[in-house]
Amino acid sequence: MRVSILPAFAAISPALAGFDTWSAAGPYEVRGPCPMLNTLTNHGFLPHDGKDITREQTQNALFEALNINKTLASFLFDFALTTNPKKNATTFSLNDLANHNILEHDASLSRTDAFFGNVLQFNQTIFDETKSYWTNEETLDIKDAARARLGRIKASQATNPEYSMSELGDSFTYGESAAYVVVLGDKISGTIKRSWVEWFFEHEQLPQHLGWTRPNVSFEEGDLERYMKEIQDFTKTIEEPGSTPGTQKQRRTPRRPSHFGF
Ligand code: HEM
Ligand SMILES: *[C@@H]1O[C@H](CO)[C@@H](O)[C@H](O)[C@H]1NC(C)=O
Ligand SMILES: *[C@@H]1O[C@H](CO)[C@@H](O)[C@H](O)[C@H]1NC(C)=O
Ligand SMILES: *[C@@H]1O[C@H](CO)[C@@H](O)[C@H](O)[C@H]1NC(C)=O
Ligand SMILES: *[C@@H]1O[C@H](CO)[C@@H](O)[C@H](O)[C@H]1NC(C)=O
Repeated sequence: MRVSILPAFAAISPALAGFDTWSAAGPYEVRGPCPMLNTLTNHGFLPHDGKDITREQTQNALFEALNINKTLASFLFDFALTTNPKKNATTFSLNDLANHNILEHDASLSRTDAFFGNVLQFNQTIFDETKSYWTNEETLDIKDAARARLGRIKASQATNPEYSMSELGDSFTYGESAAYVVVLGDKISGTIKRSWVEWFFEHEQLPQHLGWTRPNVSFEEGDLERYMKEIQDFTKTIEEPGSTPGTQKQRRTPRRPSHFGF
C-alpha cells in the first residue's frame, strides 16, 4: 500500500511561491500559449517546471493570485485536461495547451499562428499589432478588447492560407479577451490600465511595480459570461455586414466539458 506522503514533499514551499517571487523558465521547464498560466508559473503559484499540474494546484493558484472562484478554476482545468494526449489524464502540462486546434487557436493576441511559427512563444510583432487596435493610451476597456480580437482575426484570415477556428476556439477568444481586462483588471468598472496589460504580456509577470494588486473581489462564472457577451455584442456593431469571423474552415469540435457560455 502506498503511503500518501509524496504530496507533502511535492508541495511548493511557500517561500518559493508568491507575488514577490519571480523567475523565468529554466532549461528543462515548459511554458505554454497562455500568458497568465505562464505568469503564475513564473511566480511559483503553479509548479515552476510547468509540468503535471493538478486540479487543486490550478484552483489554488487562480484563487491565491487572482481571486478567481475555485469552481470556475476547476471548470477551466477540465478544458486543460482535454489537451493532455494521455488517456484519462488527471494533470496537464503547460505545453500540452499548445496542441493546435484543441484549445489553441489561430489569431492569438500575442502568438503567431501555428502555420507561421511557434505558438508557445510570445511574439512581439503580433503583440505590436494587437496594441495598434487599442484606442486609448491610459486605460483599456471591453471595446478595446473587442477591437483587438476582431483585428487579429481579420489579419489572420487575410494572411494565413491555413487559417482555421473551431467553435470552441472562437469561444475561447472571447473569454481570453475578457480575461485580460476584467480578471487581471477591474471587473466592476470593466477597465484596466494599459501599462499593466502590456507588462503582463511582454514579461509574463504580475505588474505589481506599476501598482497592480490582487483583486479584492472574487471573479465568478457569471462575470466571465457577462463580459464575453459584451465583447460579442460590441463586435457585431463593428463587423462589416456579411463577414463571419471564426467560421472559416470549421474543424472537428473536440470533446469538452459540460456547457457554460462556451
Ligand atoms: C486553467 C485556466 C486556464 C487555461 C486552461 C487557459 C488556457 C489558455 C490557452 C490554451 C490559451 C491559448 C489560446 C491561443 O491563443 O491559442 C490561452 C490564452 C490566453 N489566456 Fe489563458 N487559460 C487559463 C487561465 C487564464 C486566466 C486566469 C487568464 C487571465 C488573464 C488568462 C488569460 C489568457 C489570455 C489573455 C490569453 C490570450 C493570449 C493570446 O491571444 O496571445 N488565461 N489560455
Ligand atoms: C463559486 O462559484 C460557484 C458556482 O458558480 C458558486 O456556487 C459558489 O458560491 C462560488 N463560491 C464563492 C466562494 O463565491
Ligand atoms: C480510462 O478510464 C476508463 C473508464 O474508467 C477505463 O475503462 C480505461 O481502461 C482507462 N484507460 C486507461 C488507458 O487507463
Ligand atoms: C512572429 O510572428 C511573425 C508574424 O507572423 C512571424 O513572421 C515570425 O516568424 C514570428 N516569430 C517567431 C519567433 O516565431
Ligand atoms: C477594492 O479595490 C478597489 C480598486 O482596486 C477599491 O476601489 C476598493 O475600495 C477596494 N474595496 C475594498 C473593500 O477594499
